[in-house]
Amino acid sequence: MIKSAIVIIVALIVQWSLVQPGYQNDHHLLSSLSVSSSSTSMEHLDVVITGVTAGLGKELTSVLMESGATVYALARSKGKLDKLGEEMKDKKGKMIPIVCDLQDMTSVSKAADVVLEGVGLEGKIDYLINNAGMHYGNPFDTKSIDIAASKSDGMDKLFVTNYLSHFLLTKKLLPTIKNMVVQVSSSYHWQSDGDMLKVEPSNDTSVPSMPMAARGDFYDFNHRHTSYGNSKLAQVLHAKALARRLEKEGSGVRVVSVCPSWAATDIAPEGFFRWFVQTFAFSPGQGIYSALMAMFRPEVKSGDFVGNTEIVPIAAPYISKNLSINGVPLRGFIMDAAAQVLMMLQRFNFGWYIVGTSPESNDVGLQEGLYEWSEKAVEKYVNVA
Ligand SMILES: NC(=O)c1ccc[n+]([C@@H]2O[C@H](COP(=O)([O-])OP(=O)(O)OC[C@H]3O[C@@H](n4cnc5c(N)ncnc54)[C@H](OP(=O)(O)O)[C@@H]3O)[C@@H](O)[C@H]2O)c1
Repeated sequence: MIKSAIVIIVALIVQWSLVQPGYQNDHHLLSSLSVSSSSTSMEHLDVVITGVTAGLGKELTSVLMESGATVYALARSKGKLDKLGEEMKDKKGKMIPIVCDLQDMTSVSKAADVVLEGVGLEGKIDYLINNAGMHYGNPFDTKSIDIAASKSDGMDKLFVTNYLSHFLLTKKLLPTIKNMVVQVSSSYHWQSDGDMLKVEPSNDTSVPSMPMAARGDFYDFNHRHTSYGNSKLAQVLHAKALARRLEKEGSGVRVVSVCPSWAATDIAPEGFFRWFVQTFAFSPGQGIYSALMAMFRPEVKSGDFVGNTEIVPIAAPYISKNLSINGVPLRGFIMDAAAQVLMMLQRFNFGWYIVGTSPESNDVGLQEGLYEWSEKAVEKYVNVA
């Protein structure tokens, strides 16, 4: 405990004394580092992106359209899509706005149909970027947010938004995908020990068998605390299971997970915490670097996990899975705090890196169990016309 406290203090001092506070939006950073080395001509690329109205999705849309790509822009709000269309209208590429609410799997299925109609029978999608995401924020606030997604079988909203809807979208678009599925996951997948993603048979006939993380009727601290980590692990498990299937079929489509590290977007709860994160966060332009490198670097293999710093994955294994460790209460909290403080040093090490993922993410049984359950859970939403 003393060691962890020392790590926290030293890292805080280094962070605040050496790293410039605030962040800049640095589009040009990308042109100098980036995609130009790729042999792919962007003008002929068709890319589907979810969650384009803010943060990393908006940045990706902007950068890809600037280079001439056609972006099928999926978002839940028509008003925000119209506004985005206005902002993007002078870009070289084309934006095709499509309404898609990831808390509603019928809406997801219909959005996929619109994409399929758009590309036509002979058409193709080069990249699907499963980006949209949410966070519940304060885990102590277990009462004021209704966590059940009423239009998706009452399952947990965050699980449906971050993971299951993307599973459905990927399933429907897969026949037209030519190059890659990108899962915008997070090093926070280390927070999940995978237990809540195991499909336990239910003894209660009124409750279908499903992973605990999918249930929308738990309002306790632990469910809230681990929900984001569970959804991000679910995305990595999905990527690895799908990568294995595609490889077996001899498909050239790769499935890659990425972490943007801490990036200055709207995902952090508003107020002091968001301000605080922005003192050390990457800009959105730097945040999307891992996704762009995953897409355009040929050395990235299916099943890989790409980050934009090595510091976050080095610290991530110490993110607490449990609040008490070896029976010592609060030890988990302290380890967690130490890991998070170390992550604040991320800006010293910006780049692109293929990094390791948690042991749970490599558990083939867990990957397959969740994949097979998800296939069944989305089945009735595949054809909704
Ligand atoms: N920023 C970070 O530090 C960080 C770190 C690791 C991973 N990530 C991951 O990066 C991804 C993008 O997050 P961000 O940081 O860019 O967050 P953000 O600024 O909050 O943007 C999230 C986007 O997702 C959309 N979205 C949320 N719920 C949706 C729903 N039900 N249906 C359709 N779209 C929905 C939002 O739409 P609205 O505009 O309508 O709300 C918004 O466009 C997420 O998957 C997140 O987990 C972020």
